[in-house]
Amino acid sequence: MDYFKSKYFTYGLENSLYCDNISVQEIIKKTGTPVYIYSKNFFEDRYKEFTQAFREVKHKVFYSVKANFNLNVIKTFYDLGSGIDVNSEGEFYRAYKAGVDPKKMLMTGVGKTSDEIRLAIEKDMMIKAESSEEIELINEIAAKMKKKARIAVRVNPNVNPQTHPYISTGLSQNKFGSDIEEASGIFKDYEKFNNISFTGIDMHIGSQITSVEPFIEAVDKLSEFYFKVKAYGVKIEHFDVGGGIGVAHNSEKSFSISEYAEALIPKLKKLDCEVFFEPGRFLTANGGILVTKVLYNKKNNFKKFIIVDAAMNDLLRPSIYSAYHHIQPVEISKTDKDIVADIVGPVCESGDFFAKDRTITETASGKYLAIMSSGAYGMVMSSNYNARRRPAEVMVDGDKFNIIRSRETFDHLLYDEKII
Ligand SMILES: Cc1ncc(COP(=O)(O)O)c(C=O)c1O
Repeated sequence: MDYFKSKYFTYGLENSLYCDNISVQEIIKKTGTPVYIYSKNFFEDRYKEFTQAFREVKHKVFYSVKANFNLNVIKTFYDLGSGIDVNSEGEFYRAYKAGVDPKKMLMTGVGKTSDEIRLAIEKDMMIKAESSEEIELINEIAAKMKKKARIAVRVNPNVNPQTHPYISTGLSQNKFGSDIEEASGIFKDYEKFNNISFTGIDMHIGSQITSVEPFIEAVDKLSEFYFKVKAYGVKIEHFDVGGGIGVAHNSEKSFSISEYAEALIPKLKKLDCEVFFEPGRFLTANGGILVTKVLYNKKNNFKKFIIVDAAMNDLLRPSIYSAYHHIQPVEISKTDKDIVADIVGPVCESGDFFAKDRTITETASGKYLAIMSSGAYGMVMSSNYNARRRPAEVMVDGDKFNIIRSRETFDHLLYDEKII
């Protein structure tokens, strides 16, 4: 089988997988499995690559913490100068605890509660509003607080991002944003909202988008809209392109960040305002792996199964999006031979799988596998289903590593639950 190509996850001299300068075996001796392992170097390099690609335009990056909200991951990007995109009070709380200044946060979300709106206004966060009703409510709450809320309007440009339907957000059939007609009405009436200052136009058309075209189409549509809004007399200070950049999980084709930048820069330069980006997956996905132990091999006259100690509750993406994750052994040898098998977890669901009919190195009980590209939408989507404790998380920083979240204890499973 082929191994995932990454300079952050490589096989060392003894044919054992390393994350940067640390052997995965050394980590799992301490933490056990399943465990998420992240490369801090990857996160830093990816962030720098992004900002470097857009150096010609005045821009700000807001790391979208929904991709990976571990405090240390948030802090890594914040320390590099990133702002933070939060989608709930809970994400705000995490970013705040990581030391982020609320003024450097964006509050996003299609269904913000009054509490979330109040919090955003109180902390002077930029709010991305998604409908006329929400804007009425923001105005009302801000008036009661005798404050002015800073708002960007999220516009749904009705562009097909050509991604999995569950992570498409820029089509009219998706619940996100206001369509251009509604958004026009909002901006035309901007003076009627005494407690709102309209400062931005925003979009986010989907996630894991692997071609530049949908971004080009959406930016073109919203640029036209931007000039229309300016003609109404609104002082737009920023244009937010959102996130959504896809990453390669194997040898599939995606685009490079320089191709993305080359396509968008000429369009963004025409706008006389600052540009915001909200990448999540791009900055984190290929910076993490989930390491799991093989429990059993079994076969029937139809199939082979490799049963591992991680499950859908630890990494949900294959089950809900049929997402591809490359899976490879932690220890390799010249005598390895390939088999075709399903790699599955211990949860009582046939949807509990990491790969189906996958060509993979033959393995045995007690050996370890690495599920690659698990740094985004991995731990954040984990649950306690089947009363399983969530895995530990480790961050490797060059030649040292830290456990940045321990495996949950059985007490976590019973949090505040009482027999009455
Ligand atoms: C509003 C918003 N911004 C940014 C992102 C990050 O997207 P991605 O991880 O694909 O870059 C998301 C993800 O769904 C989002 O909803």
